Amino acid sequence: MLNLRRKPVVTPADLDGGLAALGLSGSEHVMVHASLRSFGQLEGGARAAVDVLAARAATVVAPAFTYGTLLRHASSPVHGRFHRDLRVSRDIGRVPQELVERAEAVRSFHPTLSFIALGQEAERVTAVQTLESPYQPVGALYDLGGFALMMGVDFGSNTSIHYGEHVAGMPLLTRYVPLGSEVRPTAFPNCSAAFGRLKPHVTGRSVTVGGATLELYRVRDLVEATVQLLTANPEALLCDYASCRCQEVRRLVRERGLTPRPHGAA
Ligand SMILES: CC(C)(COP(=O)(O)OP(=O)(O)OC[C@H]1O[C@@H](n2cnc3c(N)ncnc32)[C@H](O)[C@@H]1OP(=O)(O)O)[C@@H](O)C(=O)NCCC(=O)NCCS
Ligand SMILES: [Zn+2]
Repeated sequence: MLNLRRKPVVTPADLDGGLAALGLSGSEHVMVHASLRSFGQLEGGARAAVDVLAARAATVVAPAFTYGTLLRHASSPVHGRFHRDLRVSRDIGRVPQELVERAEAVRSFHPTLSFIALGQEAERVTAVQTLESPYQPVGALYDLGGFALMMGVDFGSNTSIHYGEHVAGMPLLTRYVPLGSEVRPTAFPNCSAAFGRLKPHVTGRSVTVGGATLELYRVRDLVEATVQLLTANPEALLCDYASCRCQEVRRLVRERGLTPRPHGAA
């Protein structure tokens, strides 16, 4: 079918201007979640996006998840093994994949829930991850006064909220990952389909670049708003799809309530 609506053309300079308007000056530490398509046509694609981000932030971080490695049970057959250069899952996107392709970027170790980081604090942000706390890189960003940048995506992609759930004490599920010659358990959260419900509770900055809305939030604000919301209603961010693992988390949280894991506590 002929698409008569012309896509906006966005230059790297337009993107840079948008990031500047959000307040990024080059010294911030930023977790990015992006949809390239949302811009229209971004000249230079993912490579240009990463170049601009790297100039507008001291550290650029992104989820680089690889769902093909995730195992439901300890005895499930292993299909994919993780390594530094393993391709990022398609639903995480081309921008994280471009980061992975940069040799100087640091990737954390988690076979399924790895993060990729480029720049000043890349080591620090990626080093804190554990199998028990896969979203701990968000905690490192919290300590650095960092930001979450949404480029044309909604809160369903806002990984920082998962760290907020961890701190609030949501029950975590157990999944398995192949690590070296072993299969190891890892904490795994509910899904993020209902994370839009947090949006009215946080204030961010917003600009438009081409077809995309760009939003910037303080990681600290996201985590604190999540803790507040869940403390009032532990089921607030669980989705309602009958077949989703969220229903298992719902059962657990009704049974046990929250078991807070405060940020910064030893
Ligand atoms: C799922 C998601 C990646 C899809 O967005 P998308 O824009 O379709 O995908 P990408 O950002 O990977 O960009 C690739 C697509 O953009 C388009 N594209 C390619 N080059 C482009 C360019 N220069 N300019 C604009 N669009 C372009 C193509 O349609 C391409 O799709 P294709 O590979 O099927 O041809 C995005 O919606 C998202 O959720 N991103 C955040 C992920 C995340 O951080 N999740 C956290 C998990 S808790
Ligand atoms: Zn769900």
